[in-house]
Amino acid sequence: MSGPIRARLTGVGGYLPRTVVTNDDLAQKIDTSDEWIRTRTGITQRHIVSGDETTASMAAEAARQALEQAGVNADDVDAILVATSTPDQVFPAVATQVQALLGITRGFGFDISAACSGFVYALASANSFIQSGLAKKVLVIGSEVFSRLLDWNDRTTCVLFGDGAGAVLLEAGAEDGEGVLSTHLHSDGRSGDILYVDGAVGCAGTTQHLKMLGREVFRHAVVKLSQAVDEALEANNLTGQDIQWLVPHQANLRIIDGMAKKLALPSDRVVVTVDRHANTSAASIPLALNEAVRDGRIQKGDLVLMEALGGGLTWGSALVRM
Ligand code: UT7
Repeated sequence: MSGPIRARLTGVGGYLPRTVVTNDDLAQKIDTSDEWIRTRTGITQRHIVSGDETTASMAAEAARQALEQAGVNADDVDAILVATSTPDQVFPAVATQVQALLGITRGFGFDISAACSGFVYALASANSFIQSGLAKKVLVIGSEVFSRLLDWNDRTTCVLFGDGAGAVLLEAGAEDGEGVLSTHLHSDGRSGDILYVDGAVGCAGTTQHLKMLGREVFRHAVVKLSQAVDEALEANNLTGQDIQWLVPHQANLRIIDGMAKKLALPSDRVVVTVDRHANTSAASIPLALNEAVRDGRIQKGDLVLMEALGGGLTWGSALVRM
């Protein structure tokens, strides 16, 4: 008798826009400094889209790389899930745009809106589709153009974010103890007003800019991510010592360091990209994963813990044996 269907991660990919904007570049336009940004967040630069770079084009390139690494033909993909808060159009979904850009003519695709937790939400959804038998090969993508949501005169937010895309391919057929071991998702709409975008298409009199009470979000992040990490460890009967890599959402180096400390993980076991990418929202975890897999740090068999918190509030974790 065969066991339950499990999902494994077989490919990763990423795309960063060509244009790099440093802290010093920003300090020439607004009242900020490289020193303030670095010491409060760990960020030194961010990538910002230009020319023909869009949420869909970045997503498609990241997905292409993930398929290539997995050795899977685009037309064998059953589903495409794109986590994004910055689609190029209200509809069609970025996922269906990616489908067309990759020349895929079958299966289905749709977008997921869970702000900075979007990739964890998409990974959990893809994992459930595979477990249920609905799909066998699923592209899970985070792609964001947060530069278009920012008020570039608001120094409290515009220095924090960047653009980019990351992708993974999940495939049915993991052995016991391998692949996606657990996912946990949470949201609490009561705190929706501490991190949000003011309005959307069809909402008159709004700025459509990102607004954040940074200190409040920081406070929630420390508490809720800590709970999420405990929850993932408990569900798998593990301790912090069992985790080989922490691949966290990249919002602030101080938050990342706090989680590493909680797990008693040395800093060389934590994948950090916030210094060069800033906060790319739903793209930050797959971009970090892509970097650490491609440079050889994360190896097959390694146990990887991912966690994120974002607007909603939304938060969650995923534990994956590579
Ligand atoms: O991805 C979604 C999740 N997001 C997060 O997890 C973000 C969580 N929050 C944070 O990372 C931090 O709260 C921030 C990095 C956003 C802010 O750091 P902080 O240490 O909490 O600073 P603050 O907001 O308390 O501001 C301290 C001071 C203020 O001045 P006063 O009022 O003390 O005189 C700000 O006006 O720093 C000032 N400030 C700046 N100064 C120079 C705020 N932004 C800037 C800036 N440059 N860019």
